[in-house]
Amino acid sequence: MARRTGDTALDRWFLRRVALIGAGLLIVAGIAWIAYVWVMDDALLTTDPDLVPQDPRLVAYANAMARPLWTENCASCHGADMKGKADLGAANLVDDDWLYGSGHVSEIEYTVTYGIRSGNPKARNLAFMPSFVRPNDTKEKLQALSPAEIRDVSAYIFSLGGRRQEPGAVARGARLYTDKGACYDCHTPDARGDHEVGAPNLTDNIWLYGDGSPRSVFRSIAEGHAGVCPAWQGRLTPLEIRALAVLVNDRSHAAPAASQPSGTAP
Ligand code: HEC
Ligand code: HEC
Repeated sequence: MARRTGDTALDRWFLRRVALIGAGLLIVAGIAWIAYVWVMDDALLTTDPDLVPQDPRLVAYANAMARPLWTENCASCHGADMKGKADLGAANLVDDDWLYGSGHVSEIEYTVTYGIRSGNPKARNLAFMPSFVRPNDTKEKLQALSPAEIRDVSAYIFSLGGRRQEPGAVARGARLYTDKGACYDCHTPDARGDHEVGAPNLTDNIWLYGDGSPRSVFRSIAEGHAGVCPAWQGRLTPLEIRALAVLVNDRSHAAPAASQPSGTAP
C-alpha cells in the first residue's frame, strides 16, 4: 500500500516535469518563429528587390506569403494558374513576355503598386490602343482604316510572326503599318513592342486579347483596347506587394513551372 502511494507521487512528479519541459519548449519554439518571421519580413523588404531572386530562401518565403494573396486578389482576372485570361485582356504572368519592363521584381512591383490605367496618378498610362474605325476620339489624330486595310495590316503582322499570308496583302499592310496606320509609333518600327508604353510585341504569336485568329486581331485593331489593372497601394502592404512581385518574377522565370497544365495553383 505504502509503496503504491510512493509510486503515484513519483509518477505525478515525473508528469509535471514533462509538462513543464514541454511548455518551455513550446514557448522557445514560438519565440524562435516570431524572430524568424521578423527577420525574414525585414530581409524581404530591405533587400534590393532585383537581388531577391538570387536568394532561394527569401524567394521561398515570399512565395509562401504571396500564394494566398494571389488567390484572394489576383486570380479572378489573371487565373489561379497565373496564365491570364485572353477574354479580359489580363496578361499571362508566367510567360516572361512583358507589356511593361522586362520582368524585374522592381518593375513588376511598380505595376502592382500603382496599376495600369488605374486612375492612380503614378499608374502606367502613357498610351492605349486606338480604335481604327473611329480614331477621332484620340489625341494622335489618326486616320480611320477601312475593313480591307485592317485585314491587310493584320496580314503584315501575321507574316512577321511567321504565318504564311498573301504577299500582296503583306506589302499593302507593311505600308499601312508605317504611314496611314502609324502603328510603328507605339509598337516600334520592327513591331516588337514598346515596354515603356505597354504596346505589345505583335510578332511573337503571344496575344493579350483573344486567340490570335484573324477575327480577334481584326477586332483589336478595329475597336481598340485600354486594359486596366487595379492599383494595390493602400489595399495591400508594401511587404505583400513585394512578395507578389517576387512570386510573379519567380514563376515567369521558372521554365518547367511555366509549362504546367492550366488550372493548377501557383
Ligand atoms: C480586375 C482585373 C485584374 C485584377 C484583379 C488584377 N489584374 Fe493585373 N492586370 C489586369 C489587366 C487587364 C492587365 C493588362 C493591362 C494592359 O492591358 O496593359 C494586367 C496586367 C498586370 C501586370 C503587367 C504584366 C506585364 O506584362 O507587364 C502585372 C504585373 C499584374 N497585372 C499583376 C497583378 C497582380 C499581382 C494582381 C493581384 C494583386 C493583379 N494583377 C490583379 C487585370 C487585373
Ligand atoms: C497610340 C499608340 C498605339 C498605336 C498608334 C497603335 N497601337 Fe496597337 N496597341 C497599343 C497598346 C498600348 C496596346 C495594348 C492595349 C492594352 O494593353 O489594353 C495595343 C494593342 C494592340 C493589339 C492587341 C495585341 C494583343 O496581343 O492582343 C494589336 C493587334 C495592335 N495593337 C495592332 C495595332 C496596329 C495594327 C496598329 C496600326 C494600325 C496599332 N496597333 C496602332 C498602342 C498603339
